[in-house]
Amino acid sequence: MPPILNGKRVLLGVSGGIAAYKSVALASRLTQANAQVDVIMTASAMKFVAPVTFQAITQRPVVHDIFESWHDAGRLRIGHVALAQAADLFIVAPATAHTLARLALGMADDMLSITALSYKGPMLLAPAMETRMWQHPATQEHVARLRGWGVDFVGPAQGRLASGEYGEGRMAEPEEIFEVACKVLGRGGPLEGVRVVITAGGTREPIDPVRFVGNHSTGKMGVALARAARDLGAEVVLVHAPLAVHPPGGVERVSVQTAQEMFEAVMRLLPETDVLIGAAAVADYRPVSSETTKIKKMPGQQIIRLERTPDILAAVGEMRGPERRHPRLVVGFAAETDNWEQNALEKLERKNLDLIVLNDVTAPDSGFAVDTNRVTLFERSGNREDWPLMTKEEVAQAIMQRVVARLGRLDWKKR
Ligand code: C5P
Repeated sequence: MPPILNGKRVLLGVSGGIAAYKSVALASRLTQANAQVDVIMTASAMKFVAPVTFQAITQRPVVHDIFESWHDAGRLRIGHVALAQAADLFIVAPATAHTLARLALGMADDMLSITALSYKGPMLLAPAMETRMWQHPATQEHVARLRGWGVDFVGPAQGRLASGEYGEGRMAEPEEIFEVACKVLGRGGPLEGVRVVITAGGTREPIDPVRFVGNHSTGKMGVALARAARDLGAEVVLVHAPLAVHPPGGVERVSVQTAQEMFEAVMRLLPETDVLIGAAAVADYRPVSSETTKIKKMPGQQIIRLERTPDILAAVGEMRGPERRHPRLVVGFAAETDNWEQNALEKLERKNLDLIVLNDVTAPDSGFAVDTNRVTLFERSGNREDWPLMTKEEVAQAIMQRVVARLGRLDWKKR
């Protein structure tokens, strides 16, 4: 669970579009992440979904009437003022064309708009409407105006719309809204202004058009690191080979297949990289040549000749030189089956890393394709720490805390 939402107060404004039903899933996701969610519905939203649905999910009363009194910690308060003051984040999903217009014009004619006008914090809007309404200059002007005030948007996406037509205007999926909400909340965190490049997934080295040399990596660890860095305010680029898990939202993604492509992507990003984390399982060998047509079955053995791929971290390590100035921090992983400590320390040295995370991939609860990891951390200073069994999310958060400390941002205060 992302700790960024833990204990946060989120206002979820729901306006009247068919996508309102999807906001139930968003409310659920936010609540499960331990946020306290107060749902505010417009009159037309209540025609699509009954307030009791949100009430059951959030275990909080749903608000829709400006004149209804609001009880907060035993006190009777003016609803919209109390709600706006207490909130850490205001999401409106779906945000219809009409609601966008009302927000952009500062209108206060219902509970959603009056609370928005009383609110000062980060705001995230997920528009949903027919393509022509979205593209109308009125809507676009309202969006530009809201953006100018620092309001964030997620979507709309292309896809099937309520009318049955296909086009731009479909509300972003709840999971994506959730991820971007984490990013918005993390903004201004201790990694603000820090560009973190993370490699993830297992590269695929083609044998022929349908076959490849690959490995068991799912990308879970790299994806968890990307989320953890994002939630600390970093600008994250995830350079990933195919993933078996959903990629994170709110981060820039560069999709690659082979070790060579991953190498080139990392090299391109390097001048702008502050922290590089190599969590990908990069193939060490690739077929010397890949056939252009599918290799046919033949009797007897088939031999595939392999050659070495570029070692990304080692190449970066060489460019860094003995002073290791740029990138400011390079973190590697060592997935080992034997000689754990010796192998990890050798890689720390040879790849010129600041920190290496060792995991024993023979243990059933650690390494590939499981949700947990038992790791040991080795720092160049000679510091060694054995961490207990944790989820990959917890390991990622702990690694990112170490990054924060190493960048000297531990005493950083949220503005
Ligand atoms: O040498 P080994 O593959 O065990 O090293 C693991 C570390 O090096 C990981 O951080 C991995 O992402 C990185 N690596 C790399 N390029 C390679 C091989 C590994 O960046 N070709």
